[in-house]
Amino acid sequence: MGAMDQDILKVLYTEKEIAARVERMGKQMYEDLQDKNPLFVSVLRGAFIFMADIVRACQVKSDVEFIAVSSYGNAMSSSGAVQITRDIQQDISGRNLVVIEDILDSGNTLFFLKQYFMTKGAASVSICTLLDKPSRRAKAITADYTGFVVPDEFVVGYGLDYCQKYRNLPYIGVLKPEVYGG
Ligand code: PRP
Repeated sequence: MGAMDQDILKVLYTEKEIAARVERMGKQMYEDLQDKNPLFVSVLRGAFIFMADIVRACQVKSDVEFIAVSSYGNAMSSSGAVQITRDIQQDISGRNLVVIEDILDSGNTLFFLKQYFMTKGAASVSICTLLDKPSRRAKAITADYTGFVVPDEFVVGYGLDYCQKYRNLPYIGVLKPEVYGG
Protein backbone atom coordinates (compact mmCIF):
# COMPACT_ATOMS: atom_id res chain seq x y z
CA MET A 1 0.00 0.00 0.00
CA GLY A 2 1.28 3.40 -0.95
CA ALA A 3 0.29 6.61 0.82
CA MET A 4 -2.44 7.41 -1.72
CA ASP A 5 -4.28 4.08 -1.67
CA GLN A 6 -6.17 4.86 1.53
CA ASP A 7 -7.97 7.68 -0.28
CA ILE A 8 -9.40 5.28 -2.86
CA LEU A 9 -12.91 3.88 -2.43
CA LYS A 10 -12.55 1.18 -5.08
CA VAL A 11 -10.34 0.21 -7.98
CA LEU A 12 -12.13 0.47 -11.33
CA TYR A 13 -9.32 -0.81 -13.57
CA THR A 14 -6.12 -2.43 -12.38
CA GLU A 15 -2.73 -1.74 -13.89
CA LYS A 16 -2.97 -5.08 -15.73
CA GLU A 17 -6.45 -4.40 -17.10
CA ILE A 18 -5.36 -1.00 -18.38
CA ALA A 19 -2.26 -2.45 -20.03
CA ALA A 20 -4.32 -5.14 -21.79
CA ARG A 21 -6.87 -2.62 -23.05
CA VAL A 22 -4.20 -0.16 -24.22
CA GLU A 23 -2.42 -2.96 -26.07
CA ARG A 24 -5.60 -3.84 -27.97
CA MET A 25 -6.41 -0.21 -28.73
CA GLY A 26 -2.90 0.28 -30.09
CA LYS A 27 -3.26 -2.68 -32.45
CA GLN A 28 -6.65 -1.46 -33.67
CA MET A 29 -5.23 2.02 -34.26
CA TYR A 30 -2.28 0.56 -36.13
CA GLU A 31 -4.64 -0.99 -38.67
CA ASP A 32 -6.22 2.41 -39.36
CA LEU A 33 -3.10 4.56 -39.20
CA GLN A 34 -0.28 2.59 -40.75
CA ASP A 35 -0.18 4.61 -44.00
CA LYS A 36 -1.19 7.92 -42.46
CA ASN A 37 1.99 9.25 -40.85
CA PRO A 38 -0.12 10.35 -37.87
CA LEU A 39 0.75 13.08 -35.43
CA PHE A 40 -0.24 12.06 -31.91
CA VAL A 41 -1.22 15.12 -29.88
CA SER A 42 -1.41 14.64 -26.14
CA VAL A 43 -3.54 16.98 -24.06
CA LEU A 44 -1.59 17.90 -20.94
CA ARG A 45 -1.49 17.15 -18.23
CA GLY A 46 -3.94 14.28 -17.69
CA ALA A 47 -3.05 12.33 -20.84
CA PHE A 48 0.70 12.13 -20.32
CA ILE A 49 0.77 8.58 -18.98
CA PHE A 50 -1.74 7.20 -21.48
CA MET A 51 0.17 8.93 -24.27
CA ALA A 52 3.40 7.20 -23.34
CA ASP A 53 1.70 3.81 -23.36
CA ILE A 54 -0.55 4.17 -26.41
CA VAL A 55 2.21 5.39 -28.76
CA ARG A 56 4.28 2.36 -27.85
CA ALA A 57 1.28 0.06 -28.32
CA CYS A 58 0.71 1.49 -31.81
CA GLN A 59 3.93 0.79 -33.72
CA VAL A 60 3.23 3.13 -36.63
CA LYS A 61 5.71 5.65 -38.03
CA SER A 62 4.51 8.83 -36.34
CA ASP A 63 5.51 11.80 -34.27
CA VAL A 64 4.31 13.29 -31.04
CA GLU A 65 3.16 16.74 -29.99
CA PHE A 66 1.74 18.28 -26.84
CA ILE A 67 -0.86 20.91 -26.11
CA ALA A 68 -2.04 22.21 -22.76
CA VAL A 69 -5.49 23.60 -22.19
CA SER A 70 -7.34 24.79 -19.18
CA SER A 71 -11.05 24.72 -18.54
CA TYR A 72 -11.48 23.24 -15.10
CA GLY A 73 -8.85 24.95 -12.98
CA ASN A 74 -9.36 23.15 -9.70
CA ALA A 75 -13.13 23.16 -10.14
CA MET A 76 -15.12 19.95 -10.23
CA SER A 77 -16.68 20.55 -13.62
CA SER A 78 -15.76 22.25 -16.83
CA SER A 79 -16.68 25.89 -17.32
CA GLY A 80 -17.05 25.39 -21.06
CA ALA A 81 -14.52 28.10 -21.89
CA VAL A 82 -11.38 26.35 -23.05
CA GLN A 83 -8.08 28.23 -23.12
CA ILE A 84 -4.83 27.10 -24.66
CA THR A 85 -2.07 27.52 -22.10
CA ARG A 86 0.66 25.90 -24.21
CA ASP A 87 0.18 25.64 -27.94
CA ILE A 88 1.56 23.05 -30.35
CA GLN A 89 4.98 23.87 -31.76
CA GLN A 90 4.67 22.86 -35.40
CA ASP A 91 2.75 23.30 -38.64
CA ILE A 92 -0.01 20.71 -38.78
CA SER A 93 -1.42 21.51 -42.22
CA GLY A 94 -2.24 18.35 -44.11
CA ARG A 95 -1.45 16.13 -41.13
CA ASN A 96 -3.61 13.34 -39.75
CA LEU A 97 -3.94 14.13 -36.07
CA VAL A 98 -4.87 11.73 -33.33
CA VAL A 99 -5.70 13.59 -30.15
CA ILE A 100 -4.86 11.54 -27.08
CA GLU A 101 -6.96 12.21 -23.98
CA ASP A 102 -7.34 10.59 -20.60
CA ILE A 103 -11.06 11.34 -20.33
CA LEU A 104 -13.92 12.62 -22.44
CA ASP A 105 -16.38 14.16 -20.02
CA SER A 106 -18.54 17.19 -20.95
CA GLY A 107 -16.77 17.16 -24.31
CA ASN A 108 -15.93 20.86 -24.07
CA THR A 109 -12.18 20.29 -24.35
CA LEU A 110 -12.24 17.95 -27.34
CA PHE A 111 -15.00 19.83 -29.12
CA PHE A 112 -12.87 22.95 -28.93
CA LEU A 113 -9.63 21.19 -29.89
CA LYS A 114 -11.10 19.38 -32.87
CA GLN A 115 -12.29 22.67 -34.35
CA TYR A 116 -9.03 24.38 -33.47
CA PHE A 117 -6.91 21.76 -35.26
CA MET A 118 -9.18 21.72 -38.31
CA THR A 119 -8.90 25.52 -38.50
CA LYS A 120 -5.12 25.14 -38.44
CA GLY A 121 -5.34 22.96 -41.54
CA ALA A 122 -5.19 19.39 -40.26
CA ALA A 123 -6.29 16.86 -42.89
CA SER A 124 -8.13 14.86 -40.23
CA VAL A 125 -8.56 14.87 -36.47
CA SER A 126 -9.45 11.67 -34.71
CA ILE A 127 -9.90 11.21 -31.01
CA CYS A 128 -8.50 8.53 -28.76
CA THR A 129 -9.60 8.60 -25.15
CA LEU A 130 -8.86 6.12 -22.42
CA LEU A 131 -12.07 6.88 -20.53
CA ASP A 132 -15.45 8.07 -21.74
CA LYS A 133 -18.17 9.40 -19.42
CA PRO A 134 -21.07 9.78 -21.88
CA SER A 135 -23.55 10.59 -19.11
CA ARG A 136 -21.89 13.99 -18.68
CA ARG A 137 -21.75 15.04 -22.32
CA ALA A 138 -22.68 18.66 -23.09
CA LYS A 139 -21.22 18.84 -26.62
CA ALA A 140 -21.93 16.60 -29.60
CA ILE A 141 -18.64 14.76 -29.80
CA THR A 142 -17.65 11.10 -29.82
CA ALA A 143 -14.30 9.37 -29.68
CA ASP A 144 -12.93 7.21 -32.48
CA TYR A 145 -11.10 5.00 -30.01
CA THR A 146 -12.29 4.47 -26.43
CA GLY A 147 -10.65 2.42 -23.71
CA PHE A 148 -13.42 2.14 -21.13
CA VAL A 149 -16.85 3.69 -20.67
CA VAL A 150 -17.08 4.81 -17.05
CA PRO A 151 -19.95 5.77 -14.76
CA ASP A 152 -20.23 9.29 -13.37
CA GLU A 153 -17.86 8.80 -10.46
CA PHE A 154 -14.80 10.75 -9.35
CA VAL A 155 -11.99 8.81 -11.01
CA VAL A 156 -8.28 9.34 -10.39
CA GLY A 157 -5.01 7.65 -11.27
CA TYR A 158 -3.11 6.77 -14.46
CA GLY A 159 -2.83 10.49 -15.22
CA LEU A 160 -6.15 11.64 -13.81
CA ASP A 161 -5.97 13.99 -10.86
CA TYR A 162 -7.81 15.54 -8.00
CA CYS A 163 -6.22 18.93 -7.26
CA GLN A 164 -3.14 17.77 -9.18
CA LYS A 165 -2.64 14.70 -6.96
CA TYR A 166 -3.08 10.95 -7.62
CA ARG A 167 -1.86 11.16 -11.24
CA ASN A 168 0.89 8.67 -10.44
CA LEU A 169 -1.37 5.90 -9.17
CA PRO A 170 -0.77 2.96 -11.55
CA TYR A 171 -4.47 2.01 -11.55
CA ILE A 172 -7.73 3.94 -12.03
CA GLY A 173 -9.84 4.25 -8.91
CA VAL A 174 -12.78 6.10 -7.44
CA LEU A 175 -11.84 8.71 -4.88
CA LYS A 176 -13.49 8.54 -1.45
CA PRO A 177 -16.09 11.32 -1.21
CA GLU A 178 -14.62 12.59 2.07
CA VAL A 179 -11.38 13.38 0.26
CA TYR A 180 -13.06 15.94 -2.02
CA GLY A 181 -15.76 16.95 0.45
CA GLY A 182 -18.52 15.10 -1.42
C1 PRP B 1 -9.53 16.90 -17.94
C2 PRP B 1 -9.14 15.87 -18.98
C3 PRP B 1 -9.65 16.47 -20.25
C4 PRP B 1 -10.86 17.25 -19.81
C5 PRP B 1 -12.07 16.48 -20.15
O1 PRP B 1 -8.55 17.88 -17.91
O2 PRP B 1 -7.76 15.66 -19.02
O3 PRP B 1 -8.70 17.32 -20.85
O4 PRP B 1 -10.76 17.43 -18.41
O5 PRP B 1 -13.21 17.13 -19.70
P1 PRP B 1 -14.31 17.75 -20.66
O6 PRP B 1 -14.71 16.67 -21.63
O7 PRP B 1 -15.41 18.08 -19.69
O8 PRP B 1 -13.75 18.95 -21.33
P2 PRP B 1 -8.35 18.93 -16.71
O9 PRP B 1 -8.93 20.25 -17.10
O10 PRP B 1 -8.82 18.31 -15.42
O11 PRP B 1 -6.79 19.13 -16.71
P3 PRP B 1 -5.62 18.02 -16.63
O12 PRP B 1 -5.55 17.36 -17.99
O13 PRP B 1 -4.40 18.83 -16.34
O14 PRP B 1 -5.97 17.04 -15.55
